[in-house]
Amino acid sequence: MKKFSPSCQRSYIGICLLLLLLLSASCSKDAADMPDVETLAHKLIPIPFFIELEEDVFELTAETTIYTTNLSSALSSSVDQFVAQMRRSTGFGLEVRTTDVLPTSGYISLELLRSPSSFLGEQGYEIRITKRAVTIEAATEVGLFYSLQTLRQLMPAAVEAATVQQQLWNIPTLVIRDVPRFTYRAAMLDVARHFFSVDEVKRYIDLMSLYKLTHLHLHLTDDQGWRIEIKSWPKLTSIGASTEVGGGPGGFYTQEDYREIIDYAQARYITIVPEIDMPGHTNAALASYAELNCDGIAKELYTGTDVGFSALCLDKEITYDFVEDVIREVAALTPGPYFHIGGDEAETVLPFKYVEFINRVKEMVKSQGKQMIGWDEVAVANVGSEEIVQYWLRESNAQKALDKSAKLIFSPMEKTYLNLRYNSTITLGASFNLLLNTQRAYEWDPLDLLDGVLEGNILGIEAPLWTENVSDIKEAEYMAIPRLLGIAEIAWSRERDRNWEAYKRRLAAQKERFEFLNINYHLSTLVPW
Ligand code: ACM
Repeated sequence: MKKFSPSCQRSYIGICLLLLLLLSASCSKDAADMPDVETLAHKLIPIPFFIELEEDVFELTAETTIYTTNLSSALSSSVDQFVAQMRRSTGFGLEVRTTDVLPTSGYISLELLRSPSSFLGEQGYEIRITKRAVTIEAATEVGLFYSLQTLRQLMPAAVEAATVQQQLWNIPTLVIRDVPRFTYRAAMLDVARHFFSVDEVKRYIDLMSLYKLTHLHLHLTDDQGWRIEIKSWPKLTSIGASTEVGGGPGGFYTQEDYREIIDYAQARYITIVPEIDMPGHTNAALASYAELNCDGIAKELYTGTDVGFSALCLDKEITYDFVEDVIREVAALTPGPYFHIGGDEAETVLPFKYVEFINRVKEMVKSQGKQMIGWDEVAVANVGSEEIVQYWLRESNAQKALDKSAKLIFSPMEKTYLNLRYNSTITLGASFNLLLNTQRAYEWDPLDLLDGVLEGNILGIEAPLWTENVSDIKEAEYMAIPRLLGIAEIAWSRERDRNWEAYKRRLAAQKERFEFLNINYHLSTLVPW
């Protein structure tokens, strides 16, 4: 991509900001004349590929109209969400019209390009904001959705308010051309250790969509609970969902609930990745059906936090019937391309039996038309270019996956695990002594973590939130925000455009937005809020 003029007003925002911060002679006058520049530079997360700032504002008013040339149902849903948010906080009607004929000013136009754009690709977009109008283009509806998230972030934070706010609604004039680095930018929510209601999951999806995340991996089963209705094995939920860590009442998603989550996520261009963890982490299933145990005796339900003690009985054919039924039902409910089989910490299973099991399960997933994802332990099995290995713990496993041409999702525990405590004075989070502050969760790059890994080997990045010690959405928000924003930026923006000093200021500018959104965020002392 050809770069643009490096003057202060026409530069990458990172460079410009650096120059402003250094108060260089050539830029300081412009900076004084342009109070919006610094404000703007502190607003966007993830930082866009290219941004060119100008010196004016577009004012959103009661007369502003939204124009689209081709209002498909997907685009209509994105526009509806945007307009609903704007109406709530600005009180403006924001009429939506479908026409090619634009007025001379006072509009926001959204145009789906008629032919693919090699630069914008599947998820990119371009925004031009002048004093007269906001003009947006993308090659896909996904790109248009992301452009609207950027527009939200460019507006005053009060745009997130649930009630009408009396104020000016100025948007700085600029050009943004933006494309993501990775197309898989994800979060994982463990709804097994503690159950999260449909509304709580929707809330997590809302937070993810503002920062352009693409996939929500739901860890649906574990020792402490089975959270998804399986019609052919009903005791998985009638028994296996009846508790959670600490002995609470647990819960599960009916198949209808699960579809509701999928639809809600889909309307925000987030794909649900279901995980059924096996052969370990299966005590809830073993407590529900005696026949899945080698000794034929059902296990007790488990509400503690140990790991690695449970496993399906790999010597029984009924285990494979069970797994096949579960994969078939969950795959049929899931429109996304991925099916996560877990595969982690099966510590009581003999290595050769583990490999045999993963190989069989891989074929089952494939026969349901899905692509298998597994935690990095699965790299010892027969994985290849069709499979995806989620690197969380062992570099040797990630290396094996690389050697076998499997794609990698990066979730290194010490950089991405949102259940880790922020610091030693905070009690919320994992009980073990690994800490992850907001800076450490931002200041890393996947290319630096694994010998020989190339951009092309990486599907993306995912931040898991395990919930042994996180019991509801408010606590989940505290663990995720702000660290999840750093993960979103690593996954979207180029490494050369990222640096902590600039990022922490942009993060600080999110505070007001968090407050309008009523987010329970962690007030890191590392960030100049
Ligand atoms: C894991 O943290 N057991 C994947």
